[in-house]
Amino acid sequence: MRKINLRLGSRSYPIYIGHDIIDRIADFVKPPLLKRPILIVTNKKINALIGRKLAKRLLSITASVHTEVVPDSERAKSFGVYNRIIAHLSKIGRKEIPLIIALGGGVVGDVAGFAASTYRRGIPYIQLPTTLLAQVDSSIGGKVAVDIPQAKNMVGSFYQPRTVISDTKVLKTLPDREIRNGMAEIIKYGVIRDASLFKYLEKNLKGIMGLKRACIETVISKCARIKAAVVEKDEFDVKGERAILNFGHTFGHAIEASFKYSKKYTHGEAVSIGMVLASEMSLKLGLINKSEVIRIKRLLKRAHLPLKAKRINFKKVLYALNFDKKFSGGTNRFVLPRKIGQVGLVEDVPEFLIETVLSESLYPQNMLF
Ligand SMILES: NC(=O)c1ccc[n+]([C@@H]2O[C@H](COP(=O)([O-])OP(=O)(O)OC[C@H]3O[C@@H](n4cnc5c(N)ncnc54)[C@H](O)[C@@H]3O)[C@@H](O)[C@H]2O)c1
Ligand SMILES: [Zn+2]
Repeated sequence: MRKINLRLGSRSYPIYIGHDIIDRIADFVKPPLLKRPILIVTNKKINALIGRKLAKRLLSITASVHTEVVPDSERAKSFGVYNRIIAHLSKIGRKEIPLIIALGGGVVGDVAGFAASTYRRGIPYIQLPTTLLAQVDSSIGGKVAVDIPQAKNMVGSFYQPRTVISDTKVLKTLPDREIRNGMAEIIKYGVIRDASLFKYLEKNLKGIMGLKRACIETVISKCARIKAAVVEKDEFDVKGERAILNFGHTFGHAIEASFKYSKKYTHGEAVSIGMVLASEMSLKLGLINKSEVIRIKRLLKRAHLPLKAKRINFKKVLYALNFDKKFSGGTNRFVLPRKIGQVGLVEDVPEFLIETVLSESLYPQNMLF
């Protein structure tokens, strides 16, 4: 088992990564926290796989353990679900301040964390991420939110959990597509910060995707350490440091938005295409060598992630990119790789270059010109 400390003064917390460690929750969370009324927020599937057993374990520590079962998928990141969590907290927390345990993927983590950040102006919560993406990314760093019809993650806050417990055993039941989803973020970490992680991925990809115990624990720990270091430098995403985590995401979000966040592309798949587009853009700007771009593409392909977008509506992607621009002070901003392990922020990329990179990636029938 590994332990990583995320240092943020009074908001510091440990991240535990290991195989079959959920049962040991009492070793990782300070006993007084576990003596409070506990609300486990999860979905039906994860409740059946893990939640019920966890509730039983917690009942041996405290008398008051409750579960709020939220819908599966992005639908749960809504004000309706948020209201239900708040109502449940109000019921169980009349006398004592309750503790939330977010048991699930990024969706559960985001909505449960947002409820924790606002109920009584903030109550403690623990992240128990159950997807690969959540273990390497969303459970760490305190960004919590719900969606509104106009845009994803539009209402949220920064609110750090008390502890993150990443049990790699729970990943065994994840569908392959969710493993690939997490792999896109893992490859992202290698490109933005860690050439040795990238090499490790190139060498051990099969073991990692097959969830070989030593490989997966190593990779999640390396990624968690990178995310923790970035968050420590820029907790509130104002210094530009946290922005490097958006490598592949500007294009990725635009692709997801162009499909109205349907299942056509998962977040990871859209980010994979986005990382290819950003790498091609960097190549055209003369910021990176071709051999490095080839390595990035080759690894994504080996991870069964898409390099190109099929049947994407060019105009809709451009519209979404412009929407993004409006929220970043009127300039476009891309995280572009310089070499594997290093990225830089580039602003005001000429419009024609964005269009060229996009149109080269898309199938001819979707091209604007
Ligand atoms: N807060 C952040 O910093 C941050 C960062 C990245 C992404 N996110 C958010 O995370 C969300 C995506 O998270 P996700 O990719 O984890 O998706 P998700 O939470 O929707 O989970 C994906 C699917 O896997 C299932 N699942 C979860 N754990 C399982 C398990 N152990 N076995 C079998 N099935 C399991 C879920 O029921 C769901 O169907 C998005 O809403 C995104 O905005 C947040
Ligand atoms: Zn992402």
